[in-house]
Amino acid sequence: MTTYSAPAKINLSLKVQGKREDGYHNVDILMAKLDLADELSFHNSRTTTLLCDTPGVPTDESNLVIKAVREFEKAYGRKAKQKITLNKKVPFGAGLGGGSADAAVTLLAVNEIIGTQYTHEELHAMAAAIGSDVPFFLNPVISRCTGRGEIVTPVEELAGWSSPIVLIKPQFGVSTPSAYRGLNGAHRMKGVNYGAQTVDGIRLVNELERAVFTKFPALGLWKMWMLRQDGVRAALMSGSGSTLFALTETHEQARALAEAARAELDPTIWTYCGTVNPQ
Ligand code: C5P
Repeated sequence: MTTYSAPAKINLSLKVQGKREDGYHNVDILMAKLDLADELSFHNSRTTTLLCDTPGVPTDESNLVIKAVREFEKAYGRKAKQKITLNKKVPFGAGLGGGSADAAVTLLAVNEIIGTQYTHEELHAMAAAIGSDVPFFLNPVISRCTGRGEIVTPVEELAGWSSPIVLIKPQFGVSTPSAYRGLNGAHRMKGVNYGAQTVDGIRLVNELERAVFTKFPALGLWKMWMLRQDGVRAALMSGSGSTLFALTETHEQARALAEAARAELDPTIWTYCGTVNPQ
């Protein structure tokens, strides 16, 4: 058995640059990993199966882990035959890239276990066929992602940057296609700041907030609540939501914010305190 870790991401910045003919949007994203990760273990087996005991996670062909195995098999021309166990720590429908991270790690793992020695470029092509965010997770160093998100360029000058972070997520999730679809007809909620915030020279902005907050106004209010808490340097939504994050000055302030969110906003909120771009 071999076990792999699949770290989640946040979008420090997400700008939408217009709809394309293929239905996707051109984006300009600054993506960084978290010290929050799913775990996947792989055993050789007679057929490929996926086991996951988290309710709501499909284990059939719709799971990105199985899609990754199928994409690998297309290139390999044979069956990969793996029994895969997924220990989910990253919530889904959260804008944290959990499913994409699992898919990328599956490609890396199967390539290593079977010994196919596909290059980064070959794995990148398989990853991009699975989803726009998957290529980033093949080497999740802080990167700028353009095109539909699949063109990944590491940002060397930010490689050594990191920050305490707190994540808060309501029980509901947001589907990525619905967030992009909502861009038409989205409005600005009164009293919500959508503008860029600057931390250590990084401009943080998420242009999907307008669409998602129009549908889920509580998230707009929660963002503004986060910005009022002690030690918060910036707060915004990650990806297409529903997770909001705040960069804080200290880990202690991140923990205090998580506790206050459950006490003052909603006792059922999922929270995580850790580090963005851990070294
Ligand atoms: O690439 P992925 O399968 O993750 O995308 C899911 C959906 O999100 C797409 O079908 C599209 O509706 C939307 N999307 C988009 N522009 C992007 C990425 C995703 O419109 N750059």
